Amino acid sequence: MKSVDVLIKGANEILTVKGPKRARKGREMSELRIIRNGYVAIDNGKIVYVGKDNPGYQADEVIDAKGKIVLPGFVDPHTHLVFSGYRDFELDLKLKGYSYQDISEMGGGINYTVKLTRKASKERLFEEASKRIKSMIIHGTTTCEAKSGYGLSLKDEIKILEVNRELNKKQPIDIISTFLGAHAVPEEYKGKKEEYVKLIIDEMIPEVAERDLARFCDVFCEKGYFNREESREILVAGKEHGMIPKIHADEFSNCSGAELACEIGAISADHLLKVSEKGIEMLAKSNTIAILLPATVFSLMSKEFAPARKLIDCGAAVALATDLNPNCYTENMQFVMQLACFCMKMKIEEVIVAATINAAYSIGVGDKIGSIEQGKDADILIMDIPSYTFIPYHFGINLADTVIKSGKIIWKKNLD
Ligand code: NIG
Ligand code: FE
Repeated sequence: MKSVDVLIKGANEILTVKGPKRARKGREMSELRIIRNGYVAIDNGKIVYVGKDNPGYQADEVIDAKGKIVLPGFVDPHTHLVFSGYRDFELDLKLKGYSYQDISEMGGGINYTVKLTRKASKERLFEEASKRIKSMIIHGTTTCEAKSGYGLSLKDEIKILEVNRELNKKQPIDIISTFLGAHAVPEEYKGKKEEYVKLIIDEMIPEVAERDLARFCDVFCEKGYFNREESREILVAGKEHGMIPKIHADEFSNCSGAELACEIGAISADHLLKVSEKGIEMLAKSNTIAILLPATVFSLMSKEFAPARKLIDCGAAVALATDLNPNCYTENMQFVMQLACFCMKMKIEEVIVAATINAAYSIGVGDKIGSIEQGKDADILIMDIPSYTFIPYHFGINLADTVIKSGKIIWKKNLD
């Protein structure tokens, strides 16, 4: 009898999320391909069997998932994981009605965190981020993307990306790096934005690429930050150095960011609260994935969420992410999925696809993770709920039961 490392059996539902070898678009986002009371076998970190019938394997560890559901581990494709400098004090200002831009002008915002991140040692940044990763894992995330962007000098951007690399090596989940030197114009370049853009293009991008520190290059394309032309220039330079473009697009104002993302072949366009009709149409026709971040809207106490329904109904591929950052401080993808359902009217099936396979494709790893299919990495989440419908239904608590990364149990709910 063939023997395997782990056999998961008895689950009410296995959400395989099987499908085409690309992100699910439009109506395809409703297909979960569920197996009831089936089996998942794991060997050497990979999924070797998933199906209804007992494969008859001998297993070193048998997990009985009776009364529970089994699904791919969550993928969080947009985070600003590494920073120092919390901004809890901004909450009071938000409650008084100040906007993100007001708070930034009052000395808060990105540049506040930049000051403290610059002062922090690599060890301190590593420690702080490790705690956040632990929290991600507890809530079911098995892979995340992580951006730089609180350094904004060559030395400090490199420092953050080096911490990302260290975290990827030492922490149990995969961390995929994005260079975001164009997150804001740092204080010392105030009034000299062209010089800062030049620094990004001439010094930062070549060094980051040379040292292979980031897979993606991102830009905050927004009024008061980087305009469309500056964003294009930076992303094209990144592309010439082998970095795949991503964009913070159309968040507070419409800058035709979605259109730019499609034109330059970005892997994702993120935020999109103010995306135009044309932007939606272009996203639907392209391979660029719309990453929506409803926790950001929630943290800004705004009522205007991204037009998820319209994007999906028009045929776009949508993914979900936390946007974990000092303004939007959560590591919990379950909360993001609940917000997507309640506030953007995404269907329950759609939020699951958006947090797994589509999220994986939006950071270039959809061929390896994001669904429960033979040959893929065994990144698997068991949730202590009888059906996937409970993911949004039973909100505000942690529903995770067991978290498996590359075949290893990295977290299990304490049953005491
Ligand atoms: O994705 N929008 C720009 N960047 C972050 C916020 C960063 C911050 O406020 O520190 C975001 O929401
Ligand atoms: Fe962001």
